[in-house]
Amino acid sequence: MFERFEVINPDAILMLLAAYRADPDPRKVDLGIGVYKDERGATPVLESVRRAERELIDAQATKSYVGAAGNLDFNREMEQLVFGAAHAALGSGRLKSVQTPGGCGALRLGAELIRRAAPETIVYVSTPTWANHPPLIAGSGLKLEYYPYFDPATGGVQFSAMMGALERLPPRAVVLLHASCHNPTGADLSQQEWRALLELVKRRSLVPFLDMAYQGLGEGVEEDAFAVRLFCAELPEVLVAVSCSKNFGVYRERTGVLHVLNDSAKAADATLSQLVRLARGIWSMPPDHGAEIVRLILGDAPHRELWARELGAMRERIQTLRRAAVAELRRACPQRDFSFIGRQRGMFSFLGISTEQVRALRSEHHVYMTDDSRVNIAGLREENLPYFARAVAQVI
Ligand code: LMR
Repeated sequence: MFERFEVINPDAILMLLAAYRADPDPRKVDLGIGVYKDERGATPVLESVRRAERELIDAQATKSYVGAAGNLDFNREMEQLVFGAAHAALGSGRLKSVQTPGGCGALRLGAELIRRAAPETIVYVSTPTWANHPPLIAGSGLKLEYYPYFDPATGGVQFSAMMGALERLPPRAVVLLHASCHNPTGADLSQQEWRALLELVKRRSLVPFLDMAYQGLGEGVEEDAFAVRLFCAELPEVLVAVSCSKNFGVYRERTGVLHVLNDSAKAADATLSQLVRLARGIWSMPPDHGAEIVRLILGDAPHRELWARELGAMRERIQTLRRAAVAELRRACPQRDFSFIGRQRGMFSFLGISTEQVRALRSEHHVYMTDDSRVNIAGLREENLPYFARAVAQVI
């Protein structure tokens, strides 16, 4: 059966990770996979996570199954974190949540749900979007198309072109949106643009599918949830895929949740039954460890405060690095404008250099970024910034 297989490459982000790990050069700089790094270049376990994990290990009474909807207390805590405790959706009976293996699990489960409801649905994604969106969404059997998004000339969003394209979509088309910290470009909509988009979504009866993988790493926990909260206050149906990988630093614990807002409480009960059945048919039941850690943090005031401080420090470091990268690149390449990096948010920015230049950075300077020139800003350090900027100057 498998003899006709040919060897294929892993996806670009994972391939880069392997190449970086295999490079023995001490000057190497990893700006590839989206993992937060501190000033030493390490991705440490957060102290809030360590404390919660110790408690978990001491107190856990069983390793028995959690159930297909996952850890229900985690789901409730996540609803409060994502929507804010006072959000109307919370008490409405219209919101249902299922714990998933990471944000990827949430994206796939959401796509499977859409396919079950309306198999002909087309999901529209931004140009460009995260490299794993197409396989996750199209893997469910749904068709994928693109809408204009990033404007390389300004480093911002081509908002009119985006709105023009979405205006022409048929009713019930699904639009995948990055709630904040757009991956891979770092270019987000302003609050005013989100409001205008909401009106379009209402007028055209579109269904938003929001991917929120970086809550708290852009502007703040509340600020980054603006679009999710606005859309879920005003629309009948919304899907929200949430990842805890980055903001809790629990990457390998595969911790995420899918929230689905329904038109009525009755529809929500039916949706939940479908979600549970779908999840059962894919991963049966999600892993509990990461979810229980997150639940313990969010449910305990001192843990939560510590986590908020740690998350704030990560966010501020990224923002500081953005400013430092602009200054260092200005010094090294005065002929070129990189100021857009300072205006963008979250972990990623496109440098806007060619694939050949990216590959020269890799082969000649041991600086790793994806071929489209996406850099993980959190991979920079005070110590490697000048080296990085000089290397960029040498290839452009
Ligand atoms: C990234 O975009 O690098 C991260 O979201 C990690 C991943 O799985 O691709």
